[in-house]
Order: sequence, then C-alpha cells, then structure tokens
Amino acid sequence: MAPKKHNPVDKLAVIVLAAGKGTRTKQKLPKVLLPLCGAPMLDYVLDSLEALHADHSVIVLHHGIGEVQTTLGKRFEALGCQVVDQGAPNGTGHAMQVALKAMDPDGAFEGTILVLYGDSPLISVETLQALVRGVECEIPEVGCPAATILTSEELVPGGLGRILRAEDGTFLAIREAKDCSQEELEIQEVNTGFCAFRASALRSCLPKLKNQNKQGEYYLTDVFGMLVEKGEAVLPIMTEDPDEVLGINDLSQLAQARWVLQERILEEHMANGVLIEDPATAVIEKDVQIGSGTKVLPFVVMRNGVKVGENCEVGPFSHLRVGAVLEDQAEVGNFVEMKKSVLGQGSKAKHLTYLGDATIGRRANIGAGTITANYDGVHKHKTEIGDRAFIGSGTILVAPAKVGEGALTGAGALIKRNCHIGAQEVFVGVPARFLKRLDEEGGE
Ligand code: UD1
Ligand code: MG
Repeated sequence: MAPKKHNPVDKLAVIVLAAGKGTRTKQKLPKVLLPLCGAPMLDYVLDSLEALHADHSVIVLHHGIGEVQTTLGKRFEALGCQVVDQGAPNGTGHAMQVALKAMDPDGAFEGTILVLYGDSPLISVETLQALVRGVECEIPEVGCPAATILTSEELVPGGLGRILRAEDGTFLAIREAKDCSQEELEIQEVNTGFCAFRASALRSCLPKLKNQNKQGEYYLTDVFGMLVEKGEAVLPIMTEDPDEVLGINDLSQLAQARWVLQERILEEHMANGVLIEDPATAVIEKDVQIGSGTKVLPFVVMRNGVKVGENCEVGPFSHLRVGAVLEDQAEVGNFVEMKKSVLGQGSKAKHLTYLGDATIGRRANIGAGTITANYDGVHKHKTEIGDRAFIGSGTILVAPAKVGEGALTGAGALIKRNCHIGAQEVFVGVPARFLKRLDEEGGE
C-alpha cells in the first residue's frame, strides 16, 4: 500500500497537553519541569515540536503555569508557541477544546492537528511524522483516515487506555482502564496518547464529548469511537520502539526515561568519535560538545553546556559543571571539578583539583591538590593562569589572583587575594612571596 498524500498544501497544527498536576511525582516542581539529562522534560517535547515546523503550535498549561513560563517562556516565544491556560484541568478532551478555541476561534483551520503530551519526552520525530502522514494519505478501500493513533503492546498495560478492535482487527474505540470490563483489561494493546486528526473531523466531535465516566472527565480518547460510529476510518499505528512512548508519572519512570536518553546521548558522541570507556558510568547531559579523539574514562559527569575539544582526556572521576571548557588536548583526571572555567589547549589538571571561575592558558600544568578559592562568602572572584605556568602541588589561589606566563608556584604555596605573579616569576611559601625569576626557557 503506497499511501498518496491527500492534500499537499495541508497545514499542520501541534497541540501539547501539559496542564496536569503530576501528583504522583510528589514534587513541588511542576512535572513537566522535572530534570532529564540536564534539561526540563518539556524541553525535549519542544525539540520535537521545533523539528516538525508546524504552522501553528499551542501548549496547554495550568498547574505551575507561572514557573513553566519563567523557565521556558523564551523558548515558547522563539518557537511561536501559543500558551493557553486550561483553567481547572477537566480531562484531555477539555484541554483540546480550550486549545482549539484559542488557536482557531472561528473553526476555520483546515489541515492536520497533532497531539503531544508534555510528560512523554522520548518520542521520535519520525514516528510523529508517520502519524501526520497517516491522516494525509488515501488508503485503498478505506479512504482517508480521520485520525491516526499511536499504540503499543504492553506486558503490564496497567492504567493505560485499551485499544478495542473488531474480530477482523478493525479499530473500534479506546476505553480508559478505569472504565474497562475485566475482559477488556486483558487487552495488551494500549493508547500511547500520541494522535493526529483531520481538523474538521476533530471539530465535529469535540463539542459532543460527555463526562459520564469513572473519572468524571472529558476524554479526548472518546473522539476515536465517535469517529468510527460516524463511518470514518481511524488508523492505529503501532510503535516499533516501546521506549519512545514512555510516559512519566512518577520518579521511577523519570529515572527510566533518563536511562533511555542517556544512552541516546552517549551513542551520538561515540558515533562522532568520542571514546567512552564505560558508558554505564558516564553521565553526559544534553547539549554537551565533545570533539573527536577525546577519551572519556569511567565515572565522569558533564553537565549541560560543557564543551570539550578534540583529543582531550577526561576522568576517571571528573566533574565538569556549568561553563567548563576544555580546549583541544587538555586533560583532567581524578577528583577534578571545574565550574565556569577554561582549561587551555594542552593544559593538564590531573588530580584532586577545584577550578572555579578560572581561565587557564595553554600547556599549563595544574599540580595535584590545586584549589582556586573563588568564593569569599558573598561574591565569586576570578583566577587567571597564563600559558605554560606550573602550579605546584597543593597550591591555593585566593581569588582574585593572577599568575603570569611561565610562572611557577612552589608546593603548598598560598597565593593571597589580589596577588599578581608576573611572567616567569617563582612564588613559594605561606603566604607566598617572590623567590626569583626564571628565564624564558624556564631555567634560572
Ligand atoms: C491518557 C489517556 C490514556 C493513555 C495515556 C497514555 C485520556 C483520557 N487517556 O491517560 O488513554 O493510555 O494517557 O499515557 O486521554 N492533561 C491536560 N489537561 C487535563 C488532563 C491532562 O493538559 O485536563 C495533560 C497532562 O498534563 C498530560 C496528558 O494530558 O501531559 C495526559 O494526561 P494524564 O492525566 O497523564 O492522562 P492518563 O491518565 O495518563
Ligand atoms: Mg499520564
């Protein structure tokens, strides 16, 4: 069956449902802001939205709407995403009624409407495109489906909506678990929530939804049965990847989703030529850049936005926090923490070191146990270390501090606040004082 495009000028609207409370997470933070690999869960849904290049996009919010706006408002704006407050959430059908009214008050929109859930961040863009294509195609003897619905086969279908089919396999309806008979509960094919509609077909059913069910809510899922009753075709599409439809309702599912995402992130780096010795212990968040030829040794944490150049070595046991940058061939080893710091090309900090708000030039050596004391209890201060500087083991630099090119500090040196060590100068002791000047080759 080669589906042919129904109407090549069809427009696409995407509606993200994210007004639910997330009671089961037992967190103060709205569910859609829970962190996943260094970004709020909703960020991933917005990535999919962005990739779809929709003509309209709407996000339905309510619980924690202020917090969600503060965190992601700029991104909504950049995406041209209309934010709608659902008011007291009264079911997914109600959420869609509110969204459509805001997006298309005159009911004039002709095209396809795709529905995403704010708590299902792992979905692939290819699958979403398949749902959209399904509505826009002509199937021989069936016609053009009024809707597509993504289903999955679950060993433990639990509280998910069940897909009801006729004996010949034709789709009939979706029944919410709480409204299912004992026999229907045995069905393992479930509703993942992702679906697409021909706009006119959705509009013809939404106002007719009733809330006579166990939860007293307006279910979007009732629309599918209504369409079938009207003689319209609904096309169920089964996912090929059960991971992509994982919905996050509690912290255990959050951890499960993190595993899936972490694996995807690591696979991408490995495909780019990053050698990750033990993927099981590498925590590398979203939007981390790593150059090819770099080795990531076991037990490494790299937070969102970290940049690591080519042919570097990181780990074992390194912690690269926000704003950490390693230029090409730089190396950090065990128990080295970096925050808002740049380690220049070919420079090394191999053991037991904290570099915070520090800029280190090229080919510098940061000895074991070096600490930049960047925080005076109120403010953070900067440390600058020049090219080829040699920082002796156990040096403490109380920031602000400056160490010139080719300078050297003795083991255990305490560099006092506002101390400027000139190029090639040697400072030693506690507190450190000038000892001598080295020649350009580092000799005396
Ligand atoms: C829903 C489906 C169920 C499906 C399951 C898949 C319905 C009636 N049921 O159930 O068939 O198996 O998802 O995960 O649709 N939301 C709103 N406003 C509301 C209610 C919900 O925006 O008034 C949002 C939530 O924030 C969430 C999504 O819609 O992102 C789904 O809501 P949820 O309450 O989790 O639905 P389920 O009971 O999981
Ligand atoms: Mg849910």
